[in-house]
Amino acid sequence: MNRLVVVSNRVPLPSAGQSAGGLAVALDGLMEKRGGLWFGWSGKVAEGPGAALAQVESAAGVDYATIDLTQDEHDRYYNNFSNGVLWPLLHTMPEMMKFDRRDARVYREVNARFAASLHPLLRPTDAVWVHDYHLLPLAACLRARGVKNPIGFFLHIPFAGPDVLAAAPEVAALVRDMLAADLIGFQTDNDVANFAAAAQQLAGATRLSANALQFGGRRIKLGAFPVEIEAHGFARTAARMIFSAGGERLRRSLEGQQLILGVDRLDPTKGLLQRLAGLRTLLTRHEELRRHVTMLQIAATSRKDVDSYRTLRAALDAEAGSLNADLGDPDWQPLRVVSRAADRAAVAGYMRLARVGLVTPLRDGMNLVAKEFVAAQDPEDPGVLILSRFAGAARQLTDALLVNPHDPDAMAEAMNQALRMDVTERRERWRNLWAAIADRTPVLWGRSFVAALLRTTTPMVRPTRQQPHFAPAATFPADNVVALPQARIETRIGRVELETPTERRRLN
Ligand code: F6P
Repeated sequence: MNRLVVVSNRVPLPSAGQSAGGLAVALDGLMEKRGGLWFGWSGKVAEGPGAALAQVESAAGVDYATIDLTQDEHDRYYNNFSNGVLWPLLHTMPEMMKFDRRDARVYREVNARFAASLHPLLRPTDAVWVHDYHLLPLAACLRARGVKNPIGFFLHIPFAGPDVLAAAPEVAALVRDMLAADLIGFQTDNDVANFAAAAQQLAGATRLSANALQFGGRRIKLGAFPVEIEAHGFARTAARMIFSAGGERLRRSLEGQQLILGVDRLDPTKGLLQRLAGLRTLLTRHEELRRHVTMLQIAATSRKDVDSYRTLRAALDAEAGSLNADLGDPDWQPLRVVSRAADRAAVAGYMRLARVGLVTPLRDGMNLVAKEFVAAQDPEDPGVLILSRFAGAARQLTDALLVNPHDPDAMAEAMNQALRMDVTERRERWRNLWAAIADRTPVLWGRSFVAALLRTTTPMVRPTRQQPHFAPAATFPADNVVALPQARIETRIGRVELETPTERRRLN
């Protein structure tokens, strides 16, 4: 079996305790099953210059190799460029980005440093799987070092259309760099279509079919691989945790009121202010619901060194205070906001208690909270999911109440409908939602991506002077890269073996 090498910005180092990040949750099972190497940032900021050699530790058949970032790298690569430029841009919120060429340069330097540290650890038969927007140029950096292994790239967040992307001067070069991978995966078909359009318009790639591009004489496969959750395990946890001490306390505190629940990182893409506008409209229009409903919004502090996140925190605090002051009574408040990250198992119990789950991002790659909310419900008395049309999950969870989060009236109407929905309709919707998630797991998701990666037979064209296609775009501008007809195909992978799926429960 080909060893799997996963590369991501964050690495769930066993010595640092389990990370609760969505990426870690999705990949952890697969890595433990296949064994392999997980490479990325240690989570530490080094005092001096970052060391070139990775630190390695091993647990449960997985080697974890990490490097530290310097303070300047952390500021510019992680805060400013990844989260201050690429995050809003790829979520189609270009007005929020703050572009600075120096940040773009350090972002590239960190990717090159990742490649330099990873390269000596690679074996010829490894399959390399790179994750997310922090590492868009990594495949090109590895190719520039002569790495010939199959490289897959998966983007966990949305991919914006080419008109939006053009707002960031660096992005055309990054799209070219992404094309150094053999397989590029996205959450939805819409993201695939946006990337294919950007690759054609910004990078000069040729479209061969709906799921294949040609660039620099190579064929690049594209695909939609929606990330999944371990629904059965989450359902069992929810059924147990509703009776935990925390679950009981929350239930008692509601005193019979219906719970509307939101669980998010505090992030500008999550539509938190728009959600509160919907709640305000609901309770203004339907005064009879006051004292019968409480909304709990867990808005876990995130990326607090990025300006837009700090600004959002202040705005959310102000609006939450004003909503409670305007609509509350001495003995009742409509809204509770909690900024501490909640334990995932405890959240499962809260979800089972909730009559309404509000998952209304302005834009989201997938949103696993929506799937978790479905999994957490009691089939006999399920809550109702209100889901943004702009979340990737809306393509699978079509029996949720789908809303436009920008429209407070629509949000209020959906909440009203959900709160009054009879049990027959709730059960029927839930059965259909459950059917959409029940037979899928993160491990199956990972296996299908890796299988598709190993199936890619990468056409290799003898390099010509005009065709430095494995060099990062920063050093070779697009004008020097030409698409050539496919000359010779070499399959670099021999035997493909994948293990059988077994269910695995992983909650923290
Ligand atoms: O959704 C993309 C993602 O990188 C997730 O994988 C992760 O859980 C989340 O954003 C938080 O990111 P950060 O590493 O910035 O805390």
